[in-house]
Amino acid sequence: MIEFGSLSPSHRRSRVLVADDTESIRALYQKLLATDGHDVIAVADGEAALLAVDEHHPDVVLLDVTMPRLDGLEVCRRLKSDPATRLTPVVLVTGLSDLQDRIKGIEAGADEFLSKPVHPLELRARVGSLSRMKHLLDALDSAEAAFMTLALTIEARDPTTSGHCERLAKHAVALGKALGVGETDLEALHRGGYLHDVGKVGIPDAVLLKKGPLTPVEFELMKKHPDIGDSLCAPLQSLRNVRPIIRCHHERLDGSGYPQGLRGDEVPLLAQIVGIADVYDALTSHRPYRPALSSDDAARHLLQEAAQGKFAHAHVEAFLSLAGVPAAPAV
Ligand SMILES: [Fe+2]
Repeated sequence: MIEFGSLSPSHRRSRVLVADDTESIRALYQKLLATDGHDVIAVADGEAALLAVDEHHPDVVLLDVTMPRLDGLEVCRRLKSDPATRLTPVVLVTGLSDLQDRIKGIEAGADEFLSKPVHPLELRARVGSLSRMKHLLDALDSAEAAFMTLALTIEARDPTTSGHCERLAKHAVALGKALGVGETDLEALHRGGYLHDVGKVGIPDAVLLKKGPLTPVEFELMKKHPDIGDSLCAPLQSLRNVRPIIRCHHERLDGSGYPQGLRGDEVPLLAQIVGIADVYDALTSHRPYRPALSSDDAARHLLQEAAQGKFAHAHVEAFLSLAGVPAAPAV
């Protein structure tokens, strides 16, 4: 539906290491992943896998659990305990009913699991999403990478928000471009899309994952996440132009937002942009207490908020035009 531009480095070719002792399976994975343009390195055992990681620096590693010499769990454990490879995504392939293997895999630090027999589409989707994450991590220094991982971990706590950060980053950059913001600010929007909710790490599960409206006390707690995120990022010089987004993405132009109740130009432009993209994505995503709104209904809602003075009308119109949604009259 939406075709937004992006600064995402996800279009780089990925190198995928496949380790499985069955030749026909290696050939199958190689064929499927090559379809998506990945370069595939295939090896038949765990020791060869470690050597190949050393030599080829793959973006994603796919390991069968049961292999000669070193098994997949041990390879995973070694990769995750080495600072040079701990951020390389590892997918473990297990038998469908091997719960024990999965538990050991989690302990070994595996990022994802696939069950045998592996479904071709699931394999391609998993490898695709992990390789996008890896490219993003590569583009950042290690401290930022740790923050990004944290942000994605927070997103992973709540299954209903899957993909929210990635979409938000894309949509915010697209709106920023349409409004003519400069390259440095576009970069900040991209990072802000991922990091805006990093402060939710300080919000208890009982509030963050509650399946229903929050009580006033719970909402007060939730309102702390922008300040928590800002404090977390404060020591990082490289995130200084992302912090206003983190701190102010829930501020609204009419002073009705939080945490400070800023008004008008006091709300930084980049935070206004992320605020619009955040609301649109929340409205068009399924929640446990309500179904996803259609893009037309979400547009109507955003225009209504603009009419109330919460967002700049011109910004909302620019966003909706990028989203390909006709700007229906405010009601
Ligand atoms: Fe937020």
